[in-house]
Amino acid sequence: TWTPASFVEEAIAAVREKAGPSDRVILGLSGGVDSSVAAVLCQRALGDRLTCIFVDNGLLREGEAESVERTFRGHFHMNLDAVDASARFLEGLRGVVDPEQKRKVIGRLFIEVFEEEAKRVQGAKWLVQGTLYPDVIESVSFKGPSAVIKSHHNVGGLPERMNLGLIEPLRELFKDEVRAAGEALGMPRDILYRQPFPGPGLAVRCLGEVTPEKLRVLREADAIFDQEIRAAGLYESLWQSFCVLLPVRSVGVMGDERTYDEAIALRAVHSTDGMTADWARLPYDLIARVSSRIINEVRGVNRVVLDVSSKPPSTIEWE
Ligand code: XMP
Repeated sequence: TWTPASFVEEAIAAVREKAGPSDRVILGLSGGVDSSVAAVLCQRALGDRLTCIFVDNGLLREGEAESVERTFRGHFHMNLDAVDASARFLEGLRGVVDPEQKRKVIGRLFIEVFEEEAKRVQGAKWLVQGTLYPDVIESVSFKGPSAVIKSHHNVGGLPERMNLGLIEPLRELFKDEVRAAGEALGMPRDILYRQPFPGPGLAVRCLGEVTPEKLRVLREADAIFDQEIRAAGLYESLWQSFCVLLPVRSVGVMGDERTYDEAIALRAVHSTDGMTADWARLPYDLIARVSSRIINEVRGVNRVVLDVSSKPPSTIEWE
């Protein structure tokens, strides 16, 4: 019978067997559930022979890069290579407005940066990927609407180019089993029960061109929504909850002054797999608090709206 503890034990043995007594191994750490569990598991198996590479693309939420460093370097004592590539991504995104084009630029830069860092790990022979069973199925026989409508990025082609073998310790697991394995590894709940976050990050939530100022506004608003959702005890019951910065300015009044500022949309959905989704009926008093906090605390925003669309025909993300 499958138990999280027996899985962990066998997976550790399998990783050791594959990497032998001396091979070095690299892993792309995003901070999401899958790569985090894969990282902790492989570190158990390999110790310092594992190097985790974390690329800060400048499109993460407030405090996220710091939190990854604190957790994996501080708490887990991992060999963590954290690269701040934000300037490079922002430069690459300058003038880009088309959502798919944004994904292409981000995907290409991610591979470039990751490959540069991977090359610095002398004698690396293996790449760990946090592939799950549903990803395995999807890649051979099934393309969901999201996969077709929006390209998802991975390190495509890198193992071949760098002559690295693949280690995929989670490839037989479903998401709930990954979480259970993470619990057996002693990982904290706030990592294991994180909502999904798209690879292109805030770039697809800043509608239109991505600029540092728009990212600042979106990041601040999103942090407020996130805080209030958690304080209300709703975080884990929602598939995702986040802010979107609209490419719209509207008129408002602040004191005696007329304002002409940005608008933020609140998006919160229930879903089981992201393929379909229903908009969440958040309590009115929560929406009211979030709205007034965003408008009062985030410079440059004078309006908050609520997204009441389900998927299909809408998508969860706006781009
Ligand atoms: P949509 O917007 O298509 O999103 O309803 C379905 C789920 O996929 C996530 N998503 C992405 N994840 N790269 C990712 O890694 C992407 O380009 C991407 N686009 C959407 C989205 O957050 C939701 O969970």
